[in-house]
Amino acid sequence: MKTKINNLSVFTSGNTNSKPIIFVHGFPFDHGMWDAQIEELSEDYYCITYDIRGLGESPAGDGQFTMESFVDDLETIIDELKLNLPVLCGLSMGGYISLRAMEKMEERFRALILCDTKALADDNAGKIKRAEGIKSINENGVENFVEQFVLNCFSENFMIKNNPEYEEVLIRSKNNSPIGVKGCLLAMAGRTDTTALLPNISIPTLVLCGEEDKLTPPRIMKSMADQINNSEFHVIARAGHMAPLEAADIVNEKMRSFLAEYSKP
Ligand code: MLT
Repeated sequence: MKTKINNLSVFTSGNTNSKPIIFVHGFPFDHGMWDAQIEELSEDYYCITYDIRGLGESPAGDGQFTMESFVDDLETIIDELKLNLPVLCGLSMGGYISLRAMEKMEERFRALILCDTKALADDNAGKIKRAEGIKSINENGVENFVEQFVLNCFSENFMIKNNPEYEEVLIRSKNNSPIGVKGCLLAMAGRTDTTALLPNISIPTLVLCGEEDKLTPPRIMKSMADQINNSEFHVIARAGHMAPLEAADIVNEKMRSFLAEYSKP
């Protein structure tokens, strides 16, 4: 089911009486990146996902986003849907939002799943790269920027010519509004570093990383998982930064067994 909350497009599947899981997508993607997980889990869980403001079907408005405003949006959705202790699952930028949400309101969540993300903020080189991205969108358009950006998001194997899943995600991402994409780049450049939070996370946490993730590689994610007390870490073979989409079966299996332990249907 699709609904609008505070002008955001929110998608729900499964029985509202089941235990909730809320999925937060990465950049520059949309809620559709979680299709395989929702298909697998919605029989037993109430699955919620949404398009982050400025991406997918959620309008960009003036494009003045911050990581804080993204966390406020997440909280509004949880409040409006009256979700009781959802499991929070975020990938990459969705992970930045999830980690900051943990810092602000861990008590509102049952468990945490972090996919292909990191706690570190952008360093100077990273901030300059974001600025170059904005310049490139202004000069050459959002489609061109997205085409270049996503090359780092998938394993070589997944990007082979005529892979319909890759083609679809590319088309959807290129359709994003330039104002929305630039707003997300600025929000990511301005986000805080959440490394100090990691030892304070007390809810069970599953950390998943694609073996071939170039943006948040396994060594960075392992070190992050090592700092979270109640965590388990898995490398997903033959997947890049978009492991839940590239290796859905393995990711689903890891999520299932984690959920069976910490959020039984
Ligand atoms: C993402 O997948 O959300 C982005 O790669 C995150 C980033 O650019 O830092």
